[in-house]
Amino acid sequence: MGTFVQWVHVTAAVVGVGGMGFLLVVLMPALGVLPVQERDALVQRVVRRFRWVSWAVISLLLASGVYSARQYSWEATWDGSWLFLTIKIVLAFAVFGISLALTVPLGFLERVRKRRKFWVGIAFGLGVAVIYISAYLRRG
Ligand code: HEM
Repeated sequence: MGTFVQWVHVTAAVVGVGGMGFLLVVLMPALGVLPVQERDALVQRVVRRFRWVSWAVISLLLASGVYSARQYSWEATWDGSWLFLTIKIVLAFAVFGISLALTVPLGFLERVRKRRKFWVGIAFGLGVAVIYISAYLRRG
């Protein structure tokens, strides 16, 4: 079970952070070759599809992350793993919040969506930082 849950966690992290990296470094800079109307249509379709990727990745990361914390870190002290685990979880929630704000079609989030490239960059950077903390936690 431990291996399966770890596999789910790492795979979800790869798909989520990798997906944001792809958007930032490959797709968004390439949009300029399309006329404005086609560009908007493509962005809308990409956002709609990425919304479901985000929901799936967030659910899997939360379920597998809580399971692993319960299984392996519960007894740890605050200055053992919990300090870094807490920082990691706070940063992870910031990433989840940004991806939801960018993909859920609610009117009051329009201001965030206007600066899409900036926010995808922030979320990707935070995701990479979360991976660094996870590697640190792994080594103890
Ligand atoms: C942006 C979101 C997240 C990313 C990119 C991420 C990534 C990772 C990675 C790469 C590992 C290392 C796995 C390994 O070494 O096999 C890991 C471990 C872990 N993650 Fe996450 N994670 C995220 C969110 C979460 C959340 C929300 C929780 C808790 C609710 C969580 C709890 C854990 C725990 C407990 C471990 C095991 C740490 C250890 O080895 O001591 N993660 N995570």
